[in-house]
Amino acid sequence: MFAPCVWGPTTYGFVLVSFTDCYSYFLCVCISEVTVRQSDLKPCEKDDRVCVTDVRDCGPRRSSSEQRTMNISCFYQMSPRSMTCEWTEESNTESEVSLTFKRNRISSCQRIFNPAAQLNVTAREKNYVMSRDIWSQPHTVVLRNASKPSQPVLTVLGSTADSVDVSWISSSEGSCRLRHRVNHTHTWTQVPDSVPAHRAQILTYRIKDLLPFTIYRAAVTCRQESSIRSEWSSWSPDVTVRTLDRVPSRPPEVCYRVEKTDSGGSLHLHLMWKDLENRDAGDHILGYQVSYKPASEQQPQDSFVQNVTGVTALLVVEEGNCSVTVKALNTAGYGPAANLSIDTQRQNALPSVRKLWVSSSFPAMNGLLVQWESPTAPPSVPPVSHFAVEWCPKPRPSSCCLTTVDSILTSTVIQDVDPDESYLISVFPVYNQQCGSPQSLPASLQQGALLEVVKMKVVGITKTTVTVTWAWQNKSGPVQVNRYRVMLRKDSERQKNVPSFRALFLWPDQMHNHTFLNLNPDTEYSLLLMADNVSRNIIPVRKDFVTVATVIATVTPLLLLAVTVFIISILSRTV
Ligand SMILES: *[C@@H]1O[C@H](CO)[C@@H](O)[C@H](O)[C@H]1NC(C)=O
Ligand SMILES: *[C@@H]1O[C@H](CO)[C@@H](O)[C@H](O)[C@H]1NC(C)=O
Ligand SMILES: *[C@@H]1O[C@H](CO)[C@@H](O)[C@H](O)[C@H]1NC(C)=O
Ligand SMILES: *[C@@H]1O[C@H](CO)[C@@H](O)[C@H](O)[C@H]1NC(C)=O
Ligand SMILES: *[C@@H]1O[C@H](CO)[C@@H](O)[C@H](O)[C@H]1NC(C)=O
Repeated sequence: MFAPCVWGPTTYGFVLVSFTDCYSYFLCVCISEVTVRQSDLKPCEKDDRVCVTDVRDCGPRRSSSEQRTMNISCFYQMSPRSMTCEWTEESNTESEVSLTFKRNRISSCQRIFNPAAQLNVTAREKNYVMSRDIWSQPHTVVLRNASKPSQPVLTVLGSTADSVDVSWISSSEGSCRLRHRVNHTHTWTQVPDSVPAHRAQILTYRIKDLLPFTIYRAAVTCRQESSIRSEWSSWSPDVTVRTLDRVPSRPPEVCYRVEKTDSGGSLHLHLMWKDLENRDAGDHILGYQVSYKPASEQQPQDSFVQNVTGVTALLVVEEGNCSVTVKALNTAGYGPAANLSIDTQRQNALPSVRKLWVSSSFPAMNGLLVQWESPTAPPSVPPVSHFAVEWCPKPRPSSCCLTTVDSILTSTVIQDVDPDESYLISVFPVYNQQCGSPQSLPASLQQGALLEVVKMKVVGITKTTVTVTWAWQNKSGPVQVNRYRVMLRKDSERQKNVPSFRALFLWPDQMHNHTFLNLNPDTEYSLLLMADNVSRNIIPVRKDFVTVATVIATVTPLLLLAVTVFIISILSRTV
């Protein structure tokens, strides 16, 4: 395979140099192409037999210069009067090039390019790295035999999803060939056929095996075959054309969730699917059509149809059986439909995911890491088939994106997020066609999850237990926290570098209280709220509180005993 190495065109003074058909294959072998217009030629004062593109070529050659056999070939073009010469170059470094044209007698450099002329062409290359002139041997050109066919012009007649029809007029007897490439790529594909051509003939060709809905560039060149030398014309200017679209090939994978509304009778039917748009595969989706039909309605006109551009839909439906279809639309039409048969009365309660958290290490990493744990489901619930992760920009809650995650995984990285936007991220467990209720968290690339732990406090102490509570609120400061933890540490061990503590990770969807059990009695503890490895809040678990609690705990049985004795004594007295 040849990989194209991309060069110029470059202008050196008045000479236009363009490197075309330049391929690198271990060593870069490039073709230098120079086009000289007759009007750009200059005479030499002391030599009336030469015309040059660079007057520095007039005098004697420098001693450090070198002569090489370069395989020069030149073409003559009538309009504008010019010569194009090309030769292969062994180095891939930039160099300065100039041409010298020699004839027995020259009256004017402005008139030497005529079909009757015979010229000796010499090229000079100055390599910037070597700083040395390299001269070619003189190459004799008979202009009449080296004239190049004029450049054809290509037009587009039409296109389908996988082909493009083009047309052009041939300027010569011979043949033509076409090339095409995907816009913004560098590799041309040459069509295998050579198209026979007559002078002034209108030719058409169908370029086949193209990708749908893709912009292509195409060009044509023609060859004069009747003359002694047969030269290809320059490639025509590129035409650009977009192939048509194909209808979407598959139905979307849809899951649904039935939710009771506050108003009683009607229900909310949530639908969700993964976007079929995949530009790399040439897919381009304009939107989706959702239709809903209650089983009691027999006629197709009784169905309710909605066009949506996003990947979710919310329908208000009646109790009972219904059918729902979702299909994708692109410029070619609708793809196959996903069909759902839903019985709203037979809905399992499907558990949500647990311990959802979103973290970010922006700007080191450009993505949001979403992590969760699988739901703990009763045996009556079918296993999770996959997870759906949805992210909706806060200001535009309807333009959500959705990705699916295999059921054996419990995390994903969302790449496609704007650093200046905050999102609501939801994770749904999907059980075949049904989706469980979501767990959601607000998050942004700059700050990760936009929730923080506050109001941590001790609410109960016994001899061997400590109960703490906390709350979650919207984050107030711009910090990234990957994990919140609450730690109970023995004060006596604070100085020692031993990790002797009890710790608990905190998640917004879990209980907001916890009781540490089996503690040592009469021991001083501290309660720490950790944001990653930084302690946010340290609460001493007060000894006097423990003591009071201990006193109450130890006093209570004595008190009971005293009361019992008192009652017994009263009773005995009564007796
Ligand atoms: C010039 O062309 C001949 C035959 O086409 C080839 O053998 C030779 O290697 C070429 N020389 C250079 C310097 O490219
Ligand atoms: C052109 O070059 C040929 C050999 O390559 C030589 O025989 C001829 O004399 C040259 N003509 C001029 C005008 O220099
Ligand atoms: C949905 O879009 C299609 C195609 O653009 C259109 O024909 C149809 O009328 C639209 N339906 C609704 C309900 O807007
Ligand atoms: C819904 O369909 C099921 C069979 O799929 C049927 O047993 C049930 O009676 C239907 N419910 C209603 C309300 O029609
Ligand atoms: C926090 O500390 C633990 C061990 O003490 C270490 O493994 C972990 O990498 C630290 N995390 C951060 C975010 O510094």
